[in-house]
Amino acid sequence: MACGFRRSIACQLSRVLDLPPENLIKSISAVPISRKEGVADFQLSVDSILENNNDHSRPDIQVQAMRLAEKLKCDTVVSEISTGQGTVNFKINRELLTKTVLQQVINDGSKYGLKSELFSGLPQKVVVEFSSPNVAKKFHVGHLRSTIIGNFIANLKEALGHQVTRINYLGDWGMQFGLLGTGFQLFGYEEKLQSNPLQHLFEVYVQVNKEATDDKNIAKSAHEFFQRLELGDTQALALWQKFRDLSVGEYVRIYKRLGVHFDEYSGESFYREKSQEVLKLLDSKGLLQKTVKGTAVVDLSGNGDPSSVCTVMRSDGTSLYATRDLAAAIDRMDKYNFDTMIYVTDKGQKKHFQQVFQMLQIMGYDWAERCQHVPFGVVQGMKTRRGNVTFLEDVLNEIQSRMLQNMASVKTTRELENPQETAERVGLAALIIQDFKGLLLSDYQFSWDRVFQSRGDTGVFLQYTHARLHSLEETFGCGYLNDFNTACLQEPQSVSILQHLLSHLAAMAHKTLLIKDSPPEVAGARLHLFRAVRSVLANGMKLLGITPVCRM
Ligand code: ARG
Repeated sequence: MACGFRRSIACQLSRVLDLPPENLIKSISAVPISRKEGVADFQLSVDSILENNNDHSRPDIQVQAMRLAEKLKCDTVVSEISTGQGTVNFKINRELLTKTVLQQVINDGSKYGLKSELFSGLPQKVVVEFSSPNVAKKFHVGHLRSTIIGNFIANLKEALGHQVTRINYLGDWGMQFGLLGTGFQLFGYEEKLQSNPLQHLFEVYVQVNKEATDDKNIAKSAHEFFQRLELGDTQALALWQKFRDLSVGEYVRIYKRLGVHFDEYSGESFYREKSQEVLKLLDSKGLLQKTVKGTAVVDLSGNGDPSSVCTVMRSDGTSLYATRDLAAAIDRMDKYNFDTMIYVTDKGQKKHFQQVFQMLQIMGYDWAERCQHVPFGVVQGMKTRRGNVTFLEDVLNEIQSRMLQNMASVKTTRELENPQETAERVGLAALIIQDFKGLLLSDYQFSWDRVFQSRGDTGVFLQYTHARLHSLEETFGCGYLNDFNTACLQEPQSVSILQHLLSHLAAMAHKTLLIKDSPPEVAGARLHLFRAVRSVLANGMKLLGITPVCRM
């Protein structure tokens, strides 16, 4: 849309200035929308078209703008020409604006806004790694934020036409499995494992940890179990595999409630052997340095500064978190040949990723610069009524029950076919929106009151607006939504909604731009307007990872 209007302005300018329209288009920009009505839609920066002019005696820029404006005429596209600070301003014919925007929103559907020239560029291969909880350990709020933010990044990249691979890199290896292997033999129950694997593994893990501090034999046998895993003992591996498979099965089910999916459930365990190859490679490149303790490090400073080394091997020869990340990055490059790889974790891991990327660089992988860490702030104090959050499912259940309670207390709530599902979707919207509200890197104190606020820019309000607009279509849709007359949408409020396509405006207009009792032509036109707003609203919500509801 913007493209068409800009081109048409450029064409007129091109005749007056005797320059090709292509050179002018980039100097014409959309004016950021303000709440004030009646401002111009586009502006030409006079300075930028005079840039290549070597005339040093050029008159004052304001005079230039005025002279240029005098030579231009309004036409079918431009309804008003004025000047600003070194700019010539253009206002687009209101009926044409209405018609073009509405038609485009409705025709493009979920693709609206994505075809912009601003986003042109070749599709890229993008790997987004997010969520990545640790099997048998707590799913903490850091994992939750990673899931929300990573999902949004992946959705956004996908919407822009890139080929996205979503990876969940589980913490599925390490000493915790030694403890778990031993612990399960002592306190595990097969039935409990099958019926509620995440809960049961966590219980076993907590118990064996406790016992191991007092009983050195347990600690020893845990160590041995992990040794057996590292050496590839089939029996030990079979038990580990069972723990992993059952856990992943549960994760898939729970992420689905959240509206999140992964293309790959990878994990640290995949890189046990490949880490050894990485160590050999580092060694062959002369980058591996043995320490007196028997561990091995990589010097990141390049000048032997002992304060900037990264440990990549334990004294028993096994790999570390960083080594496995090196192996995983190299493997993903082989497998996906990515243009960009994004890791989403809390800012506590900033240094870790810096070191991993730096080591890749030192190893000669120049694609290391395609790797990116997106860090976020730490959230404190997320609790459910049952206590601390241990599983993702606790959060989902809490959201659902709190929202159901809220809905029951509001008299206007309609009879719903599936109140649980609606409550969950609205509640999740509330959670997601409050999480995106602050700065990505800021820490914040979690509060359920903040999540469920119904006033202001909240998830509940977004869902409410969407549901109301949807019910308009449902009530009046048939018959009205065939054709519409743009002349019926010339109230400043209608034009304003189109310019903004925001939910607050739409919610206000919902009360004044009535459909019921309006003449059919007006009603039909307004219905088109609201439908377009709903469509844009739904697109934006989906990008954020929210499932819009049609009733609430
Ligand atoms: N499992 C890790 C944790 O809970 C996060 C993994 C992040 N990704 C990575 N490639 N290291 O802290």
